[in-house]
Amino acid sequence: MLLKVLLGLLCGVTASVAGGDEAQQGPLPLLMVSFDGFRADYLQRFPMPNLKLLYSQGVLVEQLTNVFITKTFPNHYTLVTGLYAESHGIVASNMYDPVSHKHFHAGQDQDPMWWSKAQPLWITALDSGYKTAAMMWPGSDVLISSRTPTHFLPYDFNVTFRQRIGNVTKWLLGNEKEPGVKFAALYWEEPDRSGHKYGPENTAVMTKVLKEVDDNIGLLVSKLKYNGLWGRINVIITSDHGMAQLSTERLIRLDDCIHPDDYTLVDSSPVAALIPHKDPKTLFTLLRTCHAHMTAYLKSDIPDRLHYRNNERIQPIILVADEGWSIVQRGNTLSRMGDHGYDNTLPSMHPFMAAAGPSFREGYRISNLKSVDIYPLMCHLLSVPPQPNNGSLSQARCLLAAEACGDLTLVISLVLGILLVLATIILLFRWRRNYRQSRSQPFQRLQVDDDEEPLFE
Ligand SMILES: *[C@@H]1O[C@H](CO)[C@@H](O)[C@H](O)[C@H]1NC(C)=O
Ligand SMILES: *[C@@H]1O[C@H](CO)[C@@H](O)[C@H](O)[C@H]1NC(C)=O
Ligand SMILES: [Zn+2]
Repeated sequence: MLLKVLLGLLCGVTASVAGGDEAQQGPLPLLMVSFDGFRADYLQRFPMPNLKLLYSQGVLVEQLTNVFITKTFPNHYTLVTGLYAESHGIVASNMYDPVSHKHFHAGQDQDPMWWSKAQPLWITALDSGYKTAAMMWPGSDVLISSRTPTHFLPYDFNVTFRQRIGNVTKWLLGNEKEPGVKFAALYWEEPDRSGHKYGPENTAVMTKVLKEVDDNIGLLVSKLKYNGLWGRINVIITSDHGMAQLSTERLIRLDDCIHPDDYTLVDSSPVAALIPHKDPKTLFTLLRTCHAHMTAYLKSDIPDRLHYRNNERIQPIILVADEGWSIVQRGNTLSRMGDHGYDNTLPSMHPFMAAAGPSFREGYRISNLKSVDIYPLMCHLLSVPPQPNNGSLSQARCLLAAEACGDLTLVISLVLGILLVLATIILLFRWRRNYRQSRSQPFQRLQVDDDEEPLFE
């Protein structure tokens, strides 16, 4: 506790010193890139020389604890809001809103009502007078608080990475008429697409796919260097979730337990959302014992740690499959070899984060960070007042060059450790002296008595 307070004080002091410089020049631009479905352990399993070079000059968070459910849209909105899914409102890829009676399907919907419970950084930063850009990031082409980022392109699968980064670089540079953007977010579909199709354990295919991802990171760095931006920009490379291997033997068939006419399936696997047509308790009783590898929750009993309860778009019954298991209905079979959405404590669901640029430390790594903490980190880097969020800067600030918390922790621990040892030694000495005095006094008196006794005899 004391350590935390001291650390906070020291961090605060270094931060305000650094803040003075930044205020004069304005913050550096920030580019966040997400490679969808980049499971944290791909970094150990595949070579990725460009990515490794990038974080050897910057920082690496080996695993990000993302939010439940570990799906693309919920987690991409978390990265730019710092909110759990229940608070930002994008609670799944397929949703039903009982208030408006509307349905949502990821990628096919631009209705602002789904996104309006939160405000992404590309909107908030506009209020600080900055230009912003978002390239195909989920939500970037939607009017949120009646606004979009200054620049964006509507989602188009056919636009190559080279074209996306080409446009983003243009937006970062600006021109005579318009200054460059301060914040840009860029989305890329791989390795998620191939992870689903072939499964993360298909080493031959994933080797090829991750080489392409790494080539894109190389392209990004050389594009920034060519345009004189590298070294004058902070870059975060991250992802939304990992990927688990599926198998045709690991199927949970809902039809074995409940009749398909008795409920509506809003979202299916690996987290199913059900609206019962009759009494929820009856359906729940059948589902609770349906399959050893599936956990059924009534909405009110969803564990606190999942932060997945407090939203009307979360349906009355939620089914969560164990890692690698799929929930199917109406005799459907498996059409994919990899999936995500499972419990966010599973390492296979975790993505990573790497970052480089003048504001980050060099060659520093930490094992874990929460993905909700990235939003306050980005606000800090941009000097943008954060919206209310579920993240904190306390851990993330140690990634920053101006903070050097890791070293401070060591120094302070050493100093405190030495103080503690000294205090213990002093106390021991005092205690021993007191103990000796109190024990030796009767003897002294006895001796005196002894001495005196002969006088009496
Ligand atoms: C920007 O993206 C469009 C596709 O929407 C592409 O035709 C164009 O070449 C890109 N611009 C750059 C500079 O890469
Ligand atoms: C997350 O943040 C929002 C906005 O401040 C807040 O309403 C919500 O209670 C927070 N959730 C948790 C679990 O703290
Ligand atoms: Zn996916």
